[in-house]
Amino acid sequence: MTTSQLKPRILVVEDTPEHAHILIESLHDDFAITVATNGERGLLQARGDNPPDLILLDVLMPGMSGYEVCRALKADPLTQDIPVIFMSSLVEENDEKQGLEAGGLDYISKPFRPSLVRARIHNQLELKRHRDNLEDIVRGRTRELSLTQDAAIFGLGILAEFRDTETGMHIRRTQSYVGLLGEYLNTRPKYAGFFTDDTLHLLVQSAPLHDIGKVGIPDQILRKPGALSPAEFDQIKRHTVYGRDVLEQIEATIRDNGASAFLRFAKEVTFTHHEHWCGTGYHGLRGEDTPLSGRLMALADVYDALRSKRVYKEAMPHEEAVKIITEGDGRTRPEHFDPDILAAFVALNESFRTISMDFQD
Ligand SMILES: [Fe+2]
Repeated sequence: MTTSQLKPRILVVEDTPEHAHILIESLHDDFAITVATNGERGLLQARGDNPPDLILLDVLMPGMSGYEVCRALKADPLTQDIPVIFMSSLVEENDEKQGLEAGGLDYISKPFRPSLVRARIHNQLELKRHRDNLEDIVRGRTRELSLTQDAAIFGLGILAEFRDTETGMHIRRTQSYVGLLGEYLNTRPKYAGFFTDDTLHLLVQSAPLHDIGKVGIPDQILRKPGALSPAEFDQIKRHTVYGRDVLEQIEATIRDNGASAFLRFAKEVTFTHHEHWCGTGYHGLRGEDTPLSGRLMALADVYDALRSKRVYKEAMPHEEAVKIITEGDGRTRPEHFDPDILAAFVALNESFRTISMDFQD
């Protein structure tokens, strides 16, 4: 690495060659200087592969003025964080105000005093370093918090599954299937009003809780190898109610918008993941009366159940599971599923196979 690569990079946008020359002469010991002779070129360089650490920007130039250049820099996510110092022989208070309003951080008057220019640049670079450090710390903490949340949610989900499947893989898989289907629908105009990156994240994040209510089901019913009596089946159905009720109690103790959006999805998924599009599910909800979150989980859960070994049955190959979901058998019928989600499943079925292999029990 050369010395100039280690120095902070300063882009000087200045149309007067003598002024540019003075700046190069007085700054080149401390900084790697490049010069653009008008605003348009300055913008191009700032957006280039090797962006500057700071821009010294002349106010009065032919073509784009310094203020216009600065506003364009601040409007572009690629360049908005580059500190800008204006240079001008304008000394009116109003000019300085205009420069700061355009997004400049400082204002240097011409003629230049080299030591002052150097000091101002060092100050702004130092402030930028502090800002970047703070942003890194906040990003790191936010990520840490999000991972802790995911781990806690996942842990709760595993606890609920523990007596049933004895591994956390069922919730890992169903979570992945829901994410896959959600991403697919997200590209469809019909679902544009529902999905944002945030809602998709919340949906995927809440998916592991879908069977949390199983903690309320007695072992002799949950692990029964043979057929369930109607009364026992009624008890099994209650896991959707227990799960929703627990989440409602949690919701009642929390008054936070972010958390309530998450809990809304979690409640929807726990209560409605055994509903059928045709209305023959646990609670008899029909069509879009079942929220999208529950409709997505319904298909994910059925595919996973078909593909998994249970105390009362063997695991099924992928092709057979797809056939049953799309053509039906004695228990499962294609009318059980939202037709859009069923079509998404057919389109994505090879990815379902891959996920089922990646997260085997
Ligand atoms: Fe369930």
